[in-house]
Amino acid sequence: MFKGWIATGALALCCMAAPLAETQQKPVDAEGHQWWQHAVFYEVYPRSFADSNNDGIGDLNGIASKMDYLKDLGVDAVWITPCFPSPQVDFGYDVSNYEAIDPMYGTMKDFDHLVAEAKKRNIRVLMDFVVNHSSDQHKWFQDSKSSKTAEHRDWYIWRDGKGNEPPNNWLSTFGLSAWKLDPKTNQYYYHYFYPEQPDLNWRNPAVEKAMLDVTRFWYKRGVAGFRLDAVDTLFEDPKLTDNPVLPGKDKFGRPNMDEKYNKKLPEVHDVMRKLRSTADEYGSVLIGETWTSNVSELKDYYGEKNDELQMPMDLMMTGFKGLSADQYRKHIGAVDAAGHWPVYVITNHDIVRSYTRYADGVHNDDIAKMMAALYLTLRGTVVMYYGEEIGMENNDPKSKDEVQDPIGKLGWPLEKGRDGERTPMQWNDSANAGFSKVKPWLPVPATYETHNVVSEQKDGNSVLSFYRQLLALRHKEPALLEGNYVALNESDPNVLTYVRRYKDEAILVVLNMSATEQKAQFDLSPLGFSSPRLSILLTSFHKPLTGMTDALPMEPYSVFMAKISPTSAGK
Ligand code: GLC
Ligand code: CA
Repeated sequence: MFKGWIATGALALCCMAAPLAETQQKPVDAEGHQWWQHAVFYEVYPRSFADSNNDGIGDLNGIASKMDYLKDLGVDAVWITPCFPSPQVDFGYDVSNYEAIDPMYGTMKDFDHLVAEAKKRNIRVLMDFVVNHSSDQHKWFQDSKSSKTAEHRDWYIWRDGKGNEPPNNWLSTFGLSAWKLDPKTNQYYYHYFYPEQPDLNWRNPAVEKAMLDVTRFWYKRGVAGFRLDAVDTLFEDPKLTDNPVLPGKDKFGRPNMDEKYNKKLPEVHDVMRKLRSTADEYGSVLIGETWTSNVSELKDYYGEKNDELQMPMDLMMTGFKGLSADQYRKHIGAVDAAGHWPVYVITNHDIVRSYTRYADGVHNDDIAKMMAALYLTLRGTVVMYYGEEIGMENNDPKSKDEVQDPIGKLGWPLEKGRDGERTPMQWNDSANAGFSKVKPWLPVPATYETHNVVSEQKDGNSVLSFYRQLLALRHKEPALLEGNYVALNESDPNVLTYVRRYKDEAILVVLNMSATEQKAQFDLSPLGFSSPRLSILLTSFHKPLTGMTDALPMEPYSVFMAKISPTSAGK
């Protein structure tokens, strides 16, 4: 089946050529792709990345000091979760001023410095735009609640109660009723998240204008785009129809609800289009926090005329239980066939870390490498989460009094909150994993002694070394950048196999998603390769590949990637 094997030599990192401003709206390849289609995005949670002033909390100068690390890893764009002034009730997702930097993270000068340091290395900086709600400490809300006739009254959603009850049965995702009574004017305001996060009224044109202006403010400062927070909840039914109550209770003990009247209303798409046309004025890119239940919903976020989000994240894969080649194959096939540019994610600051979710206690690092190879070799863009590349695991609070995230306080012990996936980046094996000289705001897990940047840089078989090689290939290989996704062996329950194909270039990716060794066989002749030659690009094998006959021995949870070339001139 295979003609021969050639191991390839060292992998070179690709370099972008032209200066940033010039390339921003220009295609970067013959296919007309934009820069973000070739980019690797990396989410930074600023509280936890690097603490430059040793107060236990990460900051912008900390991030700026790690730009060489990010460049070397193969990152092209960083999305920084909110670093605006905030009372930190939801750790920055409660913004009290959209056009400033929280002193805890630094100054506007530090922000400009960060953007400049990034730019020197051809790395773009994206911010997080909390579109659904502000903090209750924002001056807009302070004015809004001051009287029924205040200038900003209608910037939020105020309604009379029903007797002593809230206006309807809508629930806050972080608590009980989504309505809070304000005694001053004896009306309720609506908050889908915490009461300290009142929902903005996007039906008010003044809100829309102010928010679009916020994006312009940052684009002018060199921000390359935004990740849009919680877009599903931008609109509510103006008639306040009760949501249908479903059988059963959720983990907070509340009745299950079909949130049809306060989530994913069609008006959301009007706002996406407006945010997009504003982004287009500056050649910027929009990533969406798009929680969808199927591929069709995900498709909608690109816009009927491709005029909404360039990068709605496919967050569906993060909900898959266990590792099933079949489940991933079906999902990837459907996303890929949907006709848009996919955006894959395996973890973020709201979800248990991928390392922990997939770990089996035996092959943890192998699984981390396998999942990396899975989502980093697909057609599309990826959004990584800091620490994923070193195999960081969750470090959940051990008792309720350790919990910082209010969700954990509310839902303990069934819901421990999101602290576990937000712990400090593990830079080395010194105290606090080298994140800070003082006790950090969240504790690092014990595994920092082995899973940290410095130790893993020295180990050619570490998760980090694997990510670096993978990202280098992803930047260099035309088949990975441009190629179609072609599934092979579609009935194999254990091994996920596919080819990325672009013109004469083809790369075979073989992933053993099972805990036992598998013999992989594949027929490449339908792709026009009757007697192919495979040159190994990357594997995660522990043992050298020897004694190959007609099947490829795949170690448990292993990765095999090879370039396919025809042996003869005929293709
Ligand atoms: C998004 C954020 C999450 C935050 C919520 C409310 O889901 O990712 O961290 O708590 O929005 O802003
Ligand atoms: Ca700090």
